This record gives sequence, structure tokens and C-alpha cells, in this order.
Amino acid sequence: PMEIASGIYDVGATDWIVRDFHGYKTERGASYNSYLIVDEKICLIDTVKACYADELLEKIRRVADPAKIDYVVVNHVEPDHAGALPEVLKAAPNAKFVITMQGKNEALRHYGDGFDFMVVKEGDKISLGSRELTFVPMPMLHWPDNMAAYSDVDRILFSNDAFGQHFASSKHFDDEVGLPEVLAQAKKYYANIVMPYSRHVQKALKSFEGCEVDMIAPSHGVIWRSHVAEILGEYGRWSSLAPDDSAIVVYDSMWHTTEDMALEIVEAFIECGVPTRLFDLKANHISDIMTDLLSAKFVAVGSPTLNNGMMPTVAAFLCYLKGLSPKAGWEGRVGIPFGSYGWGTNGPDEVAAALEACGFDLPLGTLSHQWIEDEDHLARLQETIKQGVAG
Ligand code: FEO
Repeated sequence: PMEIASGIYDVGATDWIVRDFHGYKTERGASYNSYLIVDEKICLIDTVKACYADELLEKIRRVADPAKIDYVVVNHVEPDHAGALPEVLKAAPNAKFVITMQGKNEALRHYGDGFDFMVVKEGDKISLGSRELTFVPMPMLHWPDNMAAYSDVDRILFSNDAFGQHFASSKHFDDEVGLPEVLAQAKKYYANIVMPYSRHVQKALKSFEGCEVDMIAPSHGVIWRSHVAEILGEYGRWSSLAPDDSAIVVYDSMWHTTEDMALEIVEAFIECGVPTRLFDLKANHISDIMTDLLSAKFVAVGSPTLNNGMMPTVAAFLCYLKGLSPKAGWEGRVGIPFGSYGWGTNGPDEVAAALEACGFDLPLGTLSHQWIEDEDHLARLQETIKQGVAG
């Protein structure tokens, strides 16, 4: 096990193979980080997925006798962090399981009632000897039970899901991987896991303001030690939900008319100086598109009419987007539904309804076109987009 700070070991597991987390394409795998603090008291922070319980316990044994663990901090009950709790309980029968009240209620349903729970609330502390851990509830990051633990002497924030990345690596720290890669993975993680709870992120960031943080040790991905300020800054920016001036154009097409419209829309944005990306839903995963959508001001989504509705790929994208849409805070974001149709406009109309339900403004209405496009139509489409960018 890697000693990440004096007396603190990473005893978690790396999942090189996993490629899906509930619809999120984890193209770089994942890790389930667990930290063992060896002080006068021995404390385990979070566990791992159930299938990695043996690996976790073996790593703990290389550092300390699991039977001597005094505390297991359960920052989050979701099975990727707490699935190994039943095995940990067998190996550490005298441990107290430190958890929020909400977490206790969830844990009872997931893992049974054999645990000696110690329920904590905001600001509660436990002494491990030379250091104290302070607990900071972070509800909805990413379940109601979440909390973080802060070690005062080490100035380490054990943040669980927050600030994490789905990223398997032989490296342990941000500076060993490189900031652009880690930030890209953290942004994808934020967009696909955390974005709906952005208001809660803003509250959590405020509650950390008094903490001197040298290291953020999340339960997924690498540890932030050289770029703590950068990731805190990005979380502040992302959670504000303030858009930049970029655009994304997302579409599927049957006989290329909707595709031609998509390309024309991209062209119009580029001519207006708007940074733009095009995503064909046949070739791009919806969770990758979400990363760019996080801060895009303009979101154009196109579908032709297929069987009296939008195309299934577009419906899946919009369903995923609806689940991730914040309840408020997207004011001023512009949705642009578009698409071609033969004898029924349902395809583009359904896109419009879905974008509206996600919280987008639709100032340009629905840009639908019957049958095959022509030069005049494409020129009018360009003009409409340019007018939309001009406001
Ligand atoms: Fe990584 Fe919400 O679990």
C-alpha cells in the first residue's frame, strides 16, 4: 500500500476493466480508494466494492492487524465505497462505524444491522491520537448520506465522491498524471455525477472555506496535492452553472438532411466566433457529450421524424440529459431543436419538448424542415442561428 502521507496508506482497489457506471462510459476504468490511518487509534476511511474486499483486507494486513481497527468512517453508503463493509465487519469486529444519520438508515437497508454505528453530524470530531478527524456532511454529493472527513494535522480532506474522477492509473497523485488529463476526467465526472446537485456543491465549498487543505483525497481517481486550488476553482465554476460562449450540436440522421442542418448550424456558430463541437450520436457516447454540455451556452439537438417520433438515440440522450439537468440555474441557456421530417413534425417537436423540460430557453423555436434541404433553406438556417447568437 502506498503511504500518501505520514501514517496514511491507500489500501483501495483499481478496476482497470470496468467500462460502465450506470450509463457513464468509464473508458479509463475506475478506482475505489480507501485510506488507512495508523495512529494511536487505527481508522479506515471508506472501503471498496464488495468484489475487492479480499484485496482491501490483504492491503490492510500489510500495514496493521484489521482486528485492531478502531474506526471505519463510512463517508458514503453506495456499494462502490461500502460494498465491502460486511467483510470489514468480520475482520474488525470491535470497530465503530462512523456515519451520518441518513447514512445509518441507508446502511441498515443495504448491509444489515450488525454494525456498532457512531452517528456524527456537522463539526463532530474523533481523536486518533496525534490527529483529529472532523466530519462535514455533504448531502447529495452524491447521495443524501454523503460526508467528508478532514484531518487537521495532515490538512487532508477525504472527500469521497466529490473531486473524484473515474480513472484507473498506476499513479497516485495529480502531478504524476498531469493536470489536463486529471481535470478532463474530473470534468466528465462532475458533468455526469455531480451536476444536478450543483447548489449543494456551492454549500459544501463554503463549509470548507475555513479548512487549510494541502491534499484532497477522493474515493475515485488520483489524489489532488499539487492542484488543490485548481480543482476547488473548477468546482466553484462548474457549480455556478454559468455558461461560457460555446456551443454543442448533437444529432442523429437517417438520410443526411438533419446531418446537413447540423453542419450548417456548426458553420453559423463558427462564423460568429462561437467555439463549437459537433456530436453524431451514432459515434459519440452520451456521457462524453455531457462534459462539453456542462458549460455550453448553446445546445442544438437534432432529430428527424422516425416512426412518428424522435430517433431512439436522440431520445436516450435527452432522457439522460433530463436526469442530469439542475432543477434551477440554467436560465439563459439556449436550446435549439432542429430536424427534418416527411409528413409529421413529431421528431423535432419531441426534441423541443424535451429541451424545454430540461430547463432550456428556446428563443428560436423549433427549426424543422420538410423532406430534403436546399440552398435557400440552409442559408435561412444560417441566418436564424446568427440572429440567435446575436441575441
Ligand atoms: Fe462513488 Fe456515489 O459513489
